Amino acid sequence: MRSFLFIPGDSPKKLDKGMGSGADALLLDLEDSISPQRKAEARATTAAFLKDARTAKDRPRLYVRINGLATGLTDADLDAVVAVHPDGIMFPKAEGGAAVMHCDAKIAAREAIHGLPDGALDIIAIATETAAALFLAGTYAGSSKRLKGLTWGAEDLSVELGAEANRDREGNFLAPYQLARSLCLAGAAAAQVQAIDTVYVDFRNDTGLRRECEEARRDGFTGKMAIHPAQIEAINEVFTPTAEAIKRAEAVIAAFAANPGAGTVGIGGMMYDRPHLERARQLLARAKANK
Ligand code: COA
Ligand code: MG
Repeated sequence: MRSFLFIPGDSPKKLDKGMGSGADALLLDLEDSISPQRKAEARATTAAFLKDARTAKDRPRLYVRINGLATGLTDADLDAVVAVHPDGIMFPKAEGGAAVMHCDAKIAAREAIHGLPDGALDIIAIATETAAALFLAGTYAGSSKRLKGLTWGAEDLSVELGAEANRDREGNFLAPYQLARSLCLAGAAAAQVQAIDTVYVDFRNDTGLRRECEEARRDGFTGKMAIHPAQIEAINEVFTPTAEAIKRAEAVIAAFAANPGAGTVGIGGMMYDRPHLERARQLLARAKANK
């Protein structure tokens, strides 16, 4: 999945619009975009939407962002949505693998109650929203077979750190948020799950968005979250492997196939070893999945 579009879960109009946005996944939000007074309404609206949207043809993947474990709202959120079988849960303010296990157990209980197979729902965790979470970014490996992705957030973290800003005047993330981004990237790689880049909130700035997507791809992220449908095209474009990248990956695979047992091969004056082979395979798998 390349693009993940956030939609406030209390807005039937935006939910419908999301279906035609071209996003690979929708993140139906019960958390930060919903005021405390509207949580119950958002649960009901999101559940009703999911019930219909699930049966649509060629639909995006459907995830619900629940409220974090510290809020006391997590159980009611899951009670409302697991029954209608979203593809997964986005788990915010995650504090390491132990918190993911906790979330996993809550989902598993509801799957059993509603007759869904164990593991029917995935988890994508937001791994850098609290100060404590930064120190636990390396603990996600093996926490849950549901865990399919890690992403990161700068907004809640900047509040928690007491910061005045999280980007400089040119729009680049300041040091504490670059650290969070890197910890998410390494945490995801260590857990062998997808690394998903955070949102770009300046949603009318296409140039800035494209630059941030390209920097994310360069560093190893394979998708990015969005807050506005107008951001989806750029995200899908940048995270779709290019014809040139596919050609390069095929050449690496062919070179290793032609030299069975070789640890390294040379192509066009460059050395490639086994990690390059694995990366080439991953890229081709992504290229195939995006079709
Ligand atoms: N999902 C689906 N549709 C959306 C959307 C979204 N995230 N954001 C905007 N739209 C729709 C609008 O409803 C509008 O529809 P219309 O043309 O039928 O009237 C159209 O896209 C254009 O929207 P626009 O006028 O440019 O923006 P806006 O002022 O209505 O909304 C935001 C701006 C930021 C409030 C809105 O994009 C939003 O709610 N984003 C998601 C916020 C969120 O979930 N945050 C939590 C994660 S950080
Ligand atoms: Mg948040």
